[in-house]
Amino acid sequence: MKFRQFISIRLLLAAAAACMLNSFVAQAGDSPREHLSLDANWKFHLGDDWPGALHLDKAGSSTGPAAEKFSDQSWRSLNLPHDWAIELPFDKNSDTSHGFKPVGPGYAKNSIGWYRRTFDLPSEDSGKRIWLTFDGVFRDATVWVNGWLVKRHEGGYYPFREDITDVAHFGGKNVVSVRVDATKFEGWFYEGAGIYRHVWLDKTGPVAIAPDGVFVYCQFLNNIPQGPATVQLSTTLVSKQKDESAAEVNWSIIKPDDKTIEEGGAHETEGIPSGSKTEFRREIALNIPQLWSPESPKLYKLITTVKVDGKVVDQRETEFGIRTVGFDQNKGFLLNGKHYELYGTCNHQDMAGVGAALPDALQYFRVAKLKEFGCNAIRTSHNPPTPELLDACDHLGMLIMDESRLLGSDSENLRKWDDQIRRDRNHACVAIWSVANEEFSVQDSPQGGNVARSMQDYVQRLDPTRPVTYAAPEGDTFAGINGVIQVRGWNYHIGQDMDKYHAEHSGQPEVGTEQGSTVSTRGIYENDKERGYVSAYDVNAPSWAHTAERWWSFFADRPWLSGGFVWTGFDYRGEPTPYAWPCVNSHFGILDVCGFPKDNFYYYQSWWTTNPVLHLLPHWNWPGKEGQEIRVDALSNCKQVELFLNGQSQGKQAMKPNSKLTWQVKYAPGTLSAKGFDEAGNAIANAKVETTGEAAAIRLTPDRATINANGEDVSVFTVSTVDAQGRLVPVAQNKIAFAAEGAGKILGVGNGDPSCHEPDTFIPTLPVRTIAVNDWRWKLAELPGRGRLLPEYAPDYDDSSWSTIKPKTDGDTGDMFLKENETAIYRAHVKVSEDDLKNPDVQIRFSCIDDHGWVFVNNQRVGESHDWSAQPAFDIKRALHAGDNVIAVGVKNDSGSGGLNPDVNVEITGQPQASPWSRSLFNGLAQVMVQASRDAGEIKLTASADGLSSASATVKTEPGGMRPSVP
Ligand code: GAL
Repeated sequence: MKFRQFISIRLLLAAAAACMLNSFVAQAGDSPREHLSLDANWKFHLGDDWPGALHLDKAGSSTGPAAEKFSDQSWRSLNLPHDWAIELPFDKNSDTSHGFKPVGPGYAKNSIGWYRRTFDLPSEDSGKRIWLTFDGVFRDATVWVNGWLVKRHEGGYYPFREDITDVAHFGGKNVVSVRVDATKFEGWFYEGAGIYRHVWLDKTGPVAIAPDGVFVYCQFLNNIPQGPATVQLSTTLVSKQKDESAAEVNWSIIKPDDKTIEEGGAHETEGIPSGSKTEFRREIALNIPQLWSPESPKLYKLITTVKVDGKVVDQRETEFGIRTVGFDQNKGFLLNGKHYELYGTCNHQDMAGVGAALPDALQYFRVAKLKEFGCNAIRTSHNPPTPELLDACDHLGMLIMDESRLLGSDSENLRKWDDQIRRDRNHACVAIWSVANEEFSVQDSPQGGNVARSMQDYVQRLDPTRPVTYAAPEGDTFAGINGVIQVRGWNYHIGQDMDKYHAEHSGQPEVGTEQGSTVSTRGIYENDKERGYVSAYDVNAPSWAHTAERWWSFFADRPWLSGGFVWTGFDYRGEPTPYAWPCVNSHFGILDVCGFPKDNFYYYQSWWTTNPVLHLLPHWNWPGKEGQEIRVDALSNCKQVELFLNGQSQGKQAMKPNSKLTWQVKYAPGTLSAKGFDEAGNAIANAKVETTGEAAAIRLTPDRATINANGEDVSVFTVSTVDAQGRLVPVAQNKIAFAAEGAGKILGVGNGDPSCHEPDTFIPTLPVRTIAVNDWRWKLAELPGRGRLLPEYAPDYDDSSWSTIKPKTDGDTGDMFLKENETAIYRAHVKVSEDDLKNPDVQIRFSCIDDHGWVFVNNQRVGESHDWSAQPAFDIKRALHAGDNVIAVGVKNDSGSGGLNPDVNVEITGQPQASPWSRSLFNGLAQVMVQASRDAGEIKLTASADGLSSASATVKTEPGGMRPSVP
């Protein structure tokens, strides 16, 4: 790699710069780059029906779905992102920490899936480079393009890409085949299975900006923004052009608010040798920078334009923010030079309804939910995030602790670390890198320290703007990683250890990388081991963990701790601590898996936001408990709170900072209410909970009433019930049926119940009728011209004198008679009806043709096979007629014994059959996600249940937001 450093140029006048931008934008149309989504229209098959598909002997020799000509017509059609684990039923015997889905070790049948996508590349693309990028697949992926093995990637959380130009068909069909193997776990939490992040096809000219080849950042004296900002720009070009090219890079920056150009960057021209990677660098000064912060997430846009011989050959847009981050041993976290308390949450990446496969809209939904209770930072525990989560955090204002999956300084791990840093380092939201989480076996060893130091040094080389931490599950320990890491991370260990460590290592900044792990279930006020629920009063935490009040009040008193990250913002699948089955998801969240708030939401909101907050718990529906004492808590940041039952004061109490108030109240149905007062005694907040009647009607409330008709956007409906007086019924558990019509579909359902075993998705079923093809006859015969038609293939040929094959019995694969180099013809009959032929797909599937086979149906050639392990299948619908049909196969055996295995089936696949959607409410709430199609219009969601008035609600879908995509 070559570095070229250029001196700063004079600032351009705004008007001139604006003209320049216009000219770049105008020329961008000429840029050959196309960044296209490859998410839509995949085919999917669950199961490893082709265990021998991967062949490493010869290029292009892989078989089954890896082969170009394989027929995937009968496979299920779907769009990415996709997680097949979410679609499987719960299984009590499967892994507890992964949420009881029968996938992974011991579940071979469910752990391997195949995806295929066919697309055209026009002949005009010839001469361009074609890149295939996967943002993340769980877990191991083998990728073929047009039958060529192009990539083997291990690891469920890292992106991978390949330049597929050499094997692409320009002016013809191309097929991507992906075998995904989710047998191996990485984490101890739900991880999903499949291509659960986006896939992209990029087309570029031969000279182009390298993948993740743009880096833009600002540095200020003493890390405090003052005066003009010096923007550092770096662009790496790759060249596949035959000869050295004279390339020129131009940079321009668009301001956040008025979208005018703030400054234009100068251009420089250099020769770029073929096959090289060349880095161009420059500085641009911005006069009055608009700073990014979670409260004001101002984003600039860098436009990088590349020209060769005066012609635009590439252009990319990169969003970035101007801000500084730092950690100080005394002042804690500093944002833009000032103390800024980190109100963080750790989060895994799955959600109700969709598992690990989140459409982008749900990333925004989740970030917005976290912000509601004052959360301003997310730790991407314990893996690199989906890029669109970072986009959401940039735009909505949320800081990120960006964590690697595994500690390691071996070349493979550093390559992944490199990919992660280059991909994420332009994001304004990323405030700190984390090398790993709780590496128990190595953290205190000198080697652990060495490895962490190497990863930390690596960050310094690629990103001079952010520090590095490690999430350490230990107390006053300095050996190993803690001794070398820039920012000491604290997982739990609240108490003396922290103060002692702080005194002893006063030069090292500290942060609460993981705190809390409080467990609670939404709407439950008593632990219930049998059903797997924990009380939502802030009282339960496992031995290593703490209540919300305990950990936060400790941290709030110690600004040098920089704030901390609660385990967790959202509940997630798996880790059902403190229970196991029937619990299938965690109880750690401040929000449940749907994003519905638990009571602790209001504790954090009280102390992490500044507006008056007043929330009462529990609900007030306790028939049968009349006269008994019930604990009532007020979660509030008011100075005093007075509680009333049916208008009668239950007493006024003063609130200590970072705490809550509690009363014991003799239950009587009616209204429990509270008033909150400020320091001067003014009433500033009210709250009430009422005893409601039975549920009478369903309510549907979408989070967004208008979404984009782009085939991806999602509106999230809250489903609830109200009593006859229109009051939300907090204890309702009714089972509700849903149907969507119009310009979209239901994507998933959930209810936040950690012990619910109802499905989150209702996948249309594909009815398949299988007809065994029996009574094969055969004889040795010459096969002149191999695949050529022979009289013996004809339907009316008399094969009565031929040998028969012993009918296949269970466990018997049938006889294989052919010796080395022998050739033979096999024949059998199969009957199909008129109705069978009305189905969209009819295939014949062979269990083994050893070694070569040419297959004919009623004298029409339908396919050939050249691999004994391939289990080939061929479309035969066009060659069949109602009544009797003759299947004939010419076979040549190369070596050993061979021939045709008589285990042959005709598979008739019908139209997909929709299954009706439903979900029970859990303590009054359920969730339905609807996804827009590409047709603008309206999605109408209807909800009905026995004994309740049904409801319907609509979401408008408007043109817009459509990504450029591969048709
Ligand atoms: C931590 C761990 C998390 C989660 C949590 C549960 O030790 O880092 O991944 O397991 O415990 O309390």
